Amino acid sequence: MNKKGRVFSGARPTGRQHLGNYLGAIRNYIALQEEYHCVYCIVDLHALTTLDQFGELRANTAEMVLDWLAAGIRPEETIVFVQSHVPQVTELHTILSMFTPLGKLTDLPTFKEKARMHPHNINYGLVGYPVLMTADIALYKSDVVPVGIDQESHLEFAREVVRSFNYRVGKAVLIEPQMKTTDYPKVLGTDGQQKMSKSLDNHIEMALTAEETVRRVMTMVTDPQRTHRNIPGRPEVCNVFTLHHTFTPAAEVDEIERDCRSAALGCVDCKRRLAQGINQHLAPFRERRAALASNPQHVWDVLSDGATRARRIADETMREVREAIGLP
Ligand code: TRP
Repeated sequence: MNKKGRVFSGARPTGRQHLGNYLGAIRNYIALQEEYHCVYCIVDLHALTTLDQFGELRANTAEMVLDWLAAGIRPEETIVFVQSHVPQVTELHTILSMFTPLGKLTDLPTFKEKARMHPHNINYGLVGYPVLMTADIALYKSDVVPVGIDQESHLEFAREVVRSFNYRVGKAVLIEPQMKTTDYPKVLGTDGQQKMSKSLDNHIEMALTAEETVRRVMTMVTDPQRTHRNIPGRPEVCNVFTLHHTFTPAAEVDEIERDCRSAALGCVDCKRRLAQGINQHLAPFRERRAALASNPQHVWDVLSDGATRARRIADETMREVREAIGLP
């Protein structure tokens, strides 16, 4: 099949992936493999900008890649690699930084937010975060970048830097990437309020056992107005119901909605059914994951092969970039 172009996405090594990662990013990564040449990168250098525990990087990388592979990322066709294994990205980062107005970086809402969250560590790397991201995208000649809506300003920034670079060297050396936002709505955590995230501890990991999943799902907050078993629920405001849409067969979802509204179905049973749906959906994933994990060397072999293939693209781009700006 003729693929359309190259997709690139980066994700920080956050360890075991949760349902928010799965529905918001991983499923999309998997689907894009049908139409595009895909490059998926674990951005360990980006992670360093806000990391306190350097010792976690290796294990978090391996756990994340295990989840990706078990979920259906196919490393025979897709390049899966670790950002720092191809150091050309740091060279391009330096070069692109000369094409980046400083004020633009410090004005970005993402920078301001991070500076607010890490007031004790507003480092130089944090300011340059979007430049390094631009270098990722540009180095691998990416046409399309699938990201969440929170990355929109970074993508727009990357497009501007690429434009400015191409304009200054008088040649379309780098590709202006298209953004592809995921259409899945924001996945809320077990608190039913905030986006699912590991740091908020409101997440449900894909690789939990079936029993652990039940326990975790039972902690989910449902419609806050449903303070008693006999009070009818409002599925439209209930995060449990939202997840039923994804994990429970469509025919049953209608019935759950009706029975929630009439209070025939209580939240406890509703959650039990959700856990069952999640477990059924993820059973093949968990089986594949266990098989892959039985050989701890496997993910590192995949990543080493990915880095070799990524380096080939990177070398080619850097040759063109160096020539375009006349580096001797
Ligand atoms: N900035 C992204 C995030 O925080 C991660 C990232 C780094 C990325 N490089 C990228 C995403 C390149 C897309 C393309 O989630």
